Amino acid sequence: MFLQDFPPMGVYETLFKFQAASGSYMGDPGTHPWAQGFPLTRQLPGGPEIPLSVSFAASELKYPAATGNDGLRKAIAKYYNHFYGSKITEDNVGVFAGGRPGIFATLLFLQKDVDVIIEETEYTPYFDKLKLLNRSHRIVPSNPHNNFRPSISDYRKAINESGKRTLLIRSNPCNPTGVTWSGDALKEMVNLASGSDRGAIIDEAYEFFNGDGPVSAMQYISNIDESNIFVIGAATKGLQVPGMRTGWVIASKRHIEVFRNFSSIAMGGVSRPSQVYVTNLLDLDRVTQARKAVVKFYNEQRKIYRDGLASCGMELSTGDGGFYHWGKLPHGLTAEDFNQRLFKHKAAILPGTLCDMHRRGAQGPHNHFIRFSFGPIEPDAYQENMRILKDCLKG
Ligand SMILES: Cc1ncc(COP(=O)(O)O)c(C=O)c1O
Repeated sequence: MFLQDFPPMGVYETLFKFQAASGSYMGDPGTHPWAQGFPLTRQLPGGPEIPLSVSFAASELKYPAATGNDGLRKAIAKYYNHFYGSKITEDNVGVFAGGRPGIFATLLFLQKDVDVIIEETEYTPYFDKLKLLNRSHRIVPSNPHNNFRPSISDYRKAINESGKRTLLIRSNPCNPTGVTWSGDALKEMVNLASGSDRGAIIDEAYEFFNGDGPVSAMQYISNIDESNIFVIGAATKGLQVPGMRTGWVIASKRHIEVFRNFSSIAMGGVSRPSQVYVTNLLDLDRVTQARKAVVKFYNEQRKIYRDGLASCGMELSTGDGGFYHWGKLPHGLTAEDFNQRLFKHKAAILPGTLCDMHRRGAQGPHNHFIRFSFGPIEPDAYQENMRILKDCLKG
């Protein structure tokens, strides 16, 4: 083989196992895609309509601009300035085909001497990206001992131990735990990541999905042009359109130029019709309505599944954000065994071991933990879902 072998990212690994065991594609009608990280792609109660078509001129069939089209970049800058009081311009915005490529590009160009600092329990592909790019990294403890809630002093300790220039990476709200830094805690995190020797990737894919309302580090970054902070956003979750493959990085102008040059070599920009579509979604009135509807709908879903899973003996450690429940299975059940039971019902969860940034497998503390996604679940599936969960969580 001419190519270096590389396994699929954990969510896809589970998808392929599910397909092999059940003969179905997770997400198809009749399946229960609790392993997957997508939101409902239909209009939510009280939310805006989700357009099913997009019109554009022939000029939109030309190549896109390398960093993203002006219309979308301006709409994104306006969005953050309006909701979070930032003062960015389109020159601080780089558009990518989703959140993941933006994160990957940032890590790809990260100077070799910079140490990456990451929590022990995090978004599955961070591990793969760091491994693929051969990045040394330090782990901040996030495990049952601290109930998956590291503090700012844990981060400070890791930075001090490193002694090098450091880049923090965190999903906020955290996938899988739902633990969210907001208010003073987020402000402190931004301060910690500020200064010429410090930086951060703050991944806000779940920005809208927070108990008290949407949350962004942009509120606390005083001058992004003087920082090494990269705020990741995407239309994938909050705007409910993962299929549009549109995400962005907010960063200093100089860093955005690097992304422009990267795009000119390796990406060629992002589909212009997708960019036109997402620009329309960011209309301020529309997005105000969308933010409210997402918070309300998913707060309710978080609550009913919190109660439901707890009633089956799950010990939950979920925070107030995201659309996942994170918890420990009862009766010493492992996540792998639980999935074998679930596959028979065309259901699956994401095994916690895939969120372990040490990747210790069955030897690690994540072996009995699962990430249960309520993102794609219709409310009327609740009874049926609880029936399957109860059946598979029996001792
Ligand atoms: C923490 C986190 N970051 C970023 C993303 C963005 O993904 P995409 O590349 O699909 O926009 C996701 C989606 O699962 C996520 O969970």
